[in-house]
This record gives sequence, structure tokens and C-alpha cells, in this order.
Amino acid sequence: MNIKDKVLEILYTNMGKSISGEEIAEKLKISRNSVWKAVNTLRSEGIEISSQTNKGYMLSFENDVFSSAAIKKYLYREHNIILIDEVISSNTVAKQYASENAKEGTVVIAKRQTSGRGRMGRTFISNEENGLYMSIILRPNISVQESVYITVMGALAVTKAIEETSNKKCGIKWVNDIFIEEKKVCGILTEASVNFENASLEYAVLGIGVNVVPPKDGFSDEIKDIAGSIFFDAPKGYKARLCAQIINNFFDLYYNGDKKEYISLYRSKSTIINKNIDVYRGNEIFSGKCIDIDEDANLVVDIGNGVLKFNSGEARVRKNEP
Ligand code: BTN
Repeated sequence: MNIKDKVLEILYTNMGKSISGEEIAEKLKISRNSVWKAVNTLRSEGIEISSQTNKGYMLSFENDVFSSAAIKKYLYREHNIILIDEVISSNTVAKQYASENAKEGTVVIAKRQTSGRGRMGRTFISNEENGLYMSIILRPNISVQESVYITVMGALAVTKAIEETSNKKCGIKWVNDIFIEEKKVCGILTEASVNFENASLEYAVLGIGVNVVPPKDGFSDEIKDIAGSIFFDAPKGYKARLCAQIINNFFDLYYNGDKKEYISLYRSKSTIINKNIDVYRGNEIFSGKCIDIDEDANLVVDIGNGVLKFNSGEARVRKNEP
């Protein structure tokens, strides 16, 4: 963490109270001048910090601060939170940390991504601070086939977190897109490093991208018909709360979830069961009626002359059909 973020963390922990430059300098073992410079940088970024002679600096409750301290305030387990202003992709950074032995439960969060990645080689537009972009490092003791459960738990954790913090109802489009009123508000990209000797995972990175509000100039023409956001204007401090709630919910499921129970919840949140869909897998497209999501999170589709089960791919509801 750089000095500016460390100063912000101290101010945040003392939100609403004044703390002297001297005390901050002592805590961080830096000069008062460095504290003053950090405060000025924070102010230039739009964070309101008041200062009073003999009392010190104070961050007011009115600030919409997105900082690791703000996130940690809502977490109920210990997590290493790495918040970075701008990265290429938080998944790429998280994979780098994971390969350097970062602990399970470490979360890399980016305010902006210059090359956010989506599924199937697509781009995930995230170059503005209108969304939440986070990647959770995991070291699960599971096989490659079982890694779909990480995505399922991720989708449930996000859905529950959005519903708890916004009162909006969410649906999940298999396998991992989250919708509010027919607009996609969140996508998930799970990536893993595989140990080929025993087909187990060395680590997995669960990447979550949520559109909290729309981008400044709205969604681009390319995605405006499918993309949406949770709010038009988010409440103050919302991103920190949502982020922490996603982490809390995910690890509730990851440590204590009962597979049967969470698959059944996942099924009940599905937006495509009983709908006519196309499933895109590789270069093939399969059309039929989605009849279930089974206990292994496979999509079950009646294609007319038989029933197929899909463990990967992308499903799209057929336009103008029920
Ligand atoms: C999709 O909808 O296709 C998946 C989108 C996943 C986006 C998230 S944002 C955080 C993490 N970093 C990335 O580059 N991608 C994921």
C-alpha cells in the first residue's frame, strides 16, 4: 500500500474524528510533510478532508470512500485486501499473486481495468469507476470438473449481496451472468492453474465484474441492449459494502455450503429454465428447451429428438419465444 492509501486508511478508521498530522506521521513512521502531501493528493482526488489548527485532519461521513479500510469494516473474516487504482485486469494480477503463493482469501480489487477480460475471449468494459472489479484467490482441494461449483457459489454470493444491499431482485443466467430486469449487471470469469499430474487445481481466481452505475456516457451501442446496472445513482459508500458482502457470502458457501442446498437455490434463481434457448459451445449451436439444471450444475436441454446436458458453453434465450 502506498503512503496516500495508508493515510486514507487511518483517516477512514477515525472517520468523523480529528487526528493530528503528527499522530499519523508517527503511526506510519513518515514525516509530517509527507502526511500533508498525501492529504493534498487525496483532496485532489475529490476526497473531502477537513483540517483544523491544533486538532488535525478529519474525514467526514459524507465521503464516498472506496478504500481497503472501508471494505474491511464490513468483512467478518480476515482477508488480505489489495485495492489498486488501475490494472490491466484484476484476474491477471490475482493470478500473478497466486503464483507467488498469496494466501487463499486474498482479494485483488481494481478501481479501473484497462483490459478487463470476459468469458470466451471477450472484453469486459471496465475502464471507468462505475463498477466493482474484483478477483478472489482460492486454493480449493478439488478436481478440474468440480471447479464449476466455484462459479456457481460466486454467482449466488453476488446475487445475495446485491439483493441484501439494494433491494433489487436478481436472476442468474447459467452459468454465471447476473441479471436485474432482463439486463446483465454482473459477469464472472473463473480461471485456474491446473496440476496436470493429478488433474487438481493449484489455485483458482474468481473474477467478478459488477456494473454498479452506468458509465458516464452510458453503455456503448454494442452492449446497450443487454447491459444494465444496479443503480442509476448509487448510495454513498455502496461499492465498499457490496464488495465486502460478496466476499462474506462467498466464503459462507465455500466453507460451509451444502452442495444440494446451493444448487437448488441456484436452480430457483435461473432465468432460463422452461425457456427456448440456443446453447453456444465451441463452433456448435444447439437449440431446444431448457428443462433443468442438474445436481452437477449441468444445463439440461430438450433438443426435440433427445435430451443433452451441457457442462460449459453459453446459453441465450431465443428472441420472441417464451
Ligand atoms: C463475462 O461476463 O464474460 C465475465 C466478466 C468478468 C469480468 C471480471 S471484472 C474482474 C475480473 N477481471 C477481469 O479481467 N475479468 C473479471
